Amino acid sequence: MKISKIINVAIIGCGKIAEKHATILSSKKLKKLKLVAVCDTKKNKAKKFAKKFNVDFFDNIDNLLKLIKIDLVVICTSSGHHYSNALAISRYKKNLIIEKPICLNLSEAKQIIKKFEKNKNYLFVVMQNRLNPMLKLLKEAINKKLLGKITSISVRVWWCRDQKYYDQAAWRGTWNLDGGIFLNQAIHHIDMMQWLLGPIHSLSAMIKRRLVKIETEDLGLAIFEFKNGILGNIEVSTALRPKNLENSVTILGESGNIKIGGLYMNNLEIYELKNKLMAKSLLKKYKKLNKNNHHLFYEDVQKKLTETNTNSNQIVDGKEAIKSLEIAKAIYQSVIKKKRVFLPANTRINNQHKKLLSELRK
Ligand SMILES: NC(=O)c1ccc[n+]([C@@H]2O[C@H](COP(=O)([O-])OP(=O)(O)OC[C@H]3O[C@@H](n4cnc5c(N)ncnc54)[C@H](O)[C@@H]3O)[C@@H](O)[C@H]2O)c1
Repeated sequence: MKISKIINVAIIGCGKIAEKHATILSSKKLKKLKLVAVCDTKKNKAKKFAKKFNVDFFDNIDNLLKLIKIDLVVICTSSGHHYSNALAISRYKKNLIIEKPICLNLSEAKQIIKKFEKNKNYLFVVMQNRLNPMLKLLKEAINKKLLGKITSISVRVWWCRDQKYYDQAAWRGTWNLDGGIFLNQAIHHIDMMQWLLGPIHSLSAMIKRRLVKIETEDLGLAIFEFKNGILGNIEVSTALRPKNLENSVTILGESGNIKIGGLYMNNLEIYELKNKLMAKSLLKKYKKLNKNNHHLFYEDVQKKLTETNTNSNQIVDGKEAIKSLEIAKAIYQSVIKKKRVFLPANTRINNQHKKLLSELRK
């Protein structure tokens, strides 16, 4: 249902990413969205955060939703809490944004989607990279067949997340609350791969823990076969030292090659297309676009919630978000089984953490 008045927003979880959300929501650039309250199980954290943004604070979701008139809730808690938080919010029939990943288990993601569909409430998941102008350029080049027949895609996430990073919060690097680097850092890249080139047919993967003391992996490799025959690979590492080195996607085709790199996937490093005219016009279209992807995400949310005829179909809903979760779970399934996994993945591939731990111990 469309909302005609100001939309009251509440944030659950007052940590790092919540700051970004609160700053955008308080900037007054989005005229119809208003941050009115925040909640964190750590009361002092909620209080400090609320003071900074001049809003109400709570340490319990039920009290917040019982006492304050809220139209839209944003879940910014540790990933392992997304499911229980979403279910709590569904009981109050609110619209919801969940920070990525939607949650950590396929069966739980399906339950969340079902609840919000039944309530006729909006459910969005933050996959802000889809709004990155350089990736939109890449998507349009693919859709317009400017690369001709595509042969392969290669993705590199070479980041530095040292022990200090993992020690910042107890949930980081744990199977139950974080889920491993394919579910945390690389979920964006997995989403990007399937968004750009379509469904994945099968995959094979390996993971290792190399430089930090955590439960999950800090290095992972996966190779993919897409349904359309394209082959791909992804290399994810948080074990780079001393700093981030690369964050890139390269697509090779018979009529051209494109590589987008830079630490934020904001640099067009290779841009060779046979059709020079089209190449130039695409570049002109996307070069000047706004680069604050979370802000662009909220512009889309505002449109979806308030306008009747919006064709803002770049926003990720639950059904779109579950695709990357399914691929990430299949990656871990492949690690456990030590063999190629075919999609759709088995919904029961949920908590197999013991097997993953023993795999990493080797
Ligand atoms: N879209 C992106 O690029 C992006 C970037 C960073 C983080 N994230 C996602 O955002 C989420 C949070 O990450 P972060 O780095 O801000 O973590 P963080 O540890 O800084 O903050 C999480 C906060 O949630 C609170 N919390 C935990 N359980 C809660 C509950 N049940 N109710 C209320 N509060 C609760 C914690 O006390 C903490 O203050 C994760 O799911 C992460 O994957 C997304």
